[in-house]
Amino acid sequence: MKSKVYIETFGCQMNVADTERAATGLRKAGYELTSMAGEADVVLLNTCSVRERAERKVFRRIGEIRKLTTTTRKSKPLIGVMGCVAQLEGESIFRNAPAVDLVIGTRATDRIPSMIQRARGGEASVIDLDERQEGEEWNVSPAERRSPYIAFVPIIEGCNKFCSFCIVPYSRGREKSRNAAEIVDEVSRLHSLGYKEVHLIGQNVNSYRPKSQEGLEAYQGATSFSRLLRAVAETGMDRIKFTTSFPRDFHPDIVSAIEEYPNLCDWVHLPAQSGSNRILKAMRRGHTREDYLRRVNGIKTSKRRLALTSDIIVGFPGETREDFEDTMRLVRECEYDQIYMFKYSKRAGTPAAQLDDEVPESEKTARFIELEDLQISIQKMIYESYVGRRVSALVERQSARSENDMMGHTTCNKVVNFRPDGAQAGDVVEVLVSEAKPNSLYGTLAATAGTGV
Ligand code: 5AD
Ligand code: SF4
Repeated sequence: MKSKVYIETFGCQMNVADTERAATGLRKAGYELTSMAGEADVVLLNTCSVRERAERKVFRRIGEIRKLTTTTRKSKPLIGVMGCVAQLEGESIFRNAPAVDLVIGTRATDRIPSMIQRARGGEASVIDLDERQEGEEWNVSPAERRSPYIAFVPIIEGCNKFCSFCIVPYSRGREKSRNAAEIVDEVSRLHSLGYKEVHLIGQNVNSYRPKSQEGLEAYQGATSFSRLLRAVAETGMDRIKFTTSFPRDFHPDIVSAIEEYPNLCDWVHLPAQSGSNRILKAMRRGHTREDYLRRVNGIKTSKRRLALTSDIIVGFPGETREDFEDTMRLVRECEYDQIYMFKYSKRAGTPAAQLDDEVPESEKTARFIELEDLQISIQKMIYESYVGRRVSALVERQSARSENDMMGHTTCNKVVNFRPDGAQAGDVVEVLVSEAKPNSLYGTLAATAGTGV
């Protein structure tokens, strides 16, 4: 009987993509994947450490898995920690959580089968924190993808930006761009398999800098990334989204590429983190408020109406009321379609962890709520402006609100619920928006642009 592996994924899309890659390798090596931890011979937790709360969750989860598996089975499964916590904590995980057998660094995904073999052969505390090795390529089988219609395609791994609050450059190492020809091939293959949407992902997709221009020779563009966008658009893939963009590297040619190709989606995620120049400097972001607003202006004045979303941190060490007001003003000015808001969380090993003028937790919470209230009112206005308009949606699944409705995301990355009238998951449909909710749109089917109905 084949050994069964269960993988649980926390955190960002890069972790989801890594899980898919790990699952592909495991299946190739003869393992079966299961969605039930209780019946697994190997349990892997793919972890996140971007904020303290995410990291604490891992250790709680190891305890729960341990309990669950001891009540359902006779022998203890092998337990492995993958992802950012594994890379950062290394050996110390074995001491803090003795149930753990494997510590699998962020670039050891392809070597999990051999690590399991070593553990089975009697080796205790198997650990691999090394770089990816020559010949290890991004290879994900459609069977392991989370969705049969939407695929995550990593184009760049790691981060060189070293923002002072962020642990990612330490957990994921230096930026490494994938070969463009390989990315374009993968998207073409996904297109022929019936995928409707790809997300080109990376910590900073627009810092994409491949070793050679192989695969991009035929495409115009001011940067490798904007050439890649055009090359990927030419595959004919229905919808192409990309995230995350780094402000300093956001070239106006990205907007030009979006204007040229309707299948490049009308959405840009451009984290500002703060609206205060003093704080941006302390964050070592490499851009000022004015630089950022210049990029935003290029996005907002596009011929296409582009949705803009952002990440904002409140309560960075030393953030005064005035700094926070600058952030509020920035948010008012940018009129974001959505913001992911975070209270600053101190990460050991980052430069910001050395700063001592921490903002009290109660103040962080108060600012968070204030920003949230502001965003709610802005979002209400933006979402209401969609009423009466048609949006293109990729049908994903039954709506959580009503079993008579289906849900999908628009090209501008908003959730839309609608009466399906026969439309099925995987169809691309036009929805006429009739109502705006705080975080979603509601509408009726206008006409179909894809298969099905
Ligand atoms: N504290 C709070 N938020 C953080 N982020 C990254 N590091 C921290 C931290 N130490 C947020 C940033 C980033 C998003 C992915 O997570 O806003 O853009
Ligand atoms: Fe972290 Fe900054 Fe890199 Fe984003 S750009 S992953 S916030 S260091």
